[in-house]
Amino acid sequence: MDAADMGDDLERILLSEEQLSSRLDELAAQIDADYAAKDVLLVGVLKGAVMVMADLARRLHGPVEMDWMAVSSYGSGTKSSGVVRILKDLDADLTGRHVLIVEDIIDSGLTLSWLLSNLRSRGPASVEIATMLRKPDAAKVEVDVRYVGFEIPNEFVVGYGLDYAERYRNLPFVGTLAPHVYSH
Ligand code: IMP
Ligand code: MG
Repeated sequence: MDAADMGDDLERILLSEEQLSSRLDELAAQIDADYAAKDVLLVGVLKGAVMVMADLARRLHGPVEMDWMAVSSYGSGTKSSGVVRILKDLDADLTGRHVLIVEDIIDSGLTLSWLLSNLRSRGPASVEIATMLRKPDAAKVEVDVRYVGFEIPNEFVVGYGLDYAERYRNLPFVGTLAPHVYSH
């Protein structure tokens, strides 16, 4: 899917495919340097983190494993409910592991702070966070995010894994939707 396929549903492109790609190169280099030859367990949060996970993991030179968790904190709307449920838990045992949570976006940070304390209670050697996008409200939550791709304005965005009512995840860029899309 690209901008042309969206017709007038696309308001504007916030981050192009090229911008995302070059920032991922930088993040991967940082992560490789920080973890040196340590085994890393990348934990992706479904479904939004699929694109970041795929693109980040392929740029890493060190030994990595990937595991997935599905939690729900949003319905099909655009506001955080603050309620987190585990829909699919990890397969891996975290005892003694270096865990790197891979996120698409941190908005209110509610999902993440819940996830952090959940994963920390499982006896890992370390838990860090990498997120492609972070919104301003995330600053209200006392969570130390080691790797941030881009700080973005407080707008609802889609693409590169992010959805509106399950659509637009397959856009290669991050963009905003025209207001008429929300009024359907
Ligand atoms: P938080 O708990 O408010 O930090 O948000 C958690 C989840 O809400 C993210 O992992 C996304 O799935 C979703 N989300 C937050 N902001 C957006 C957005 O702008 N577009 C699409 N999904 C979003
Ligand atoms: Mg979502």
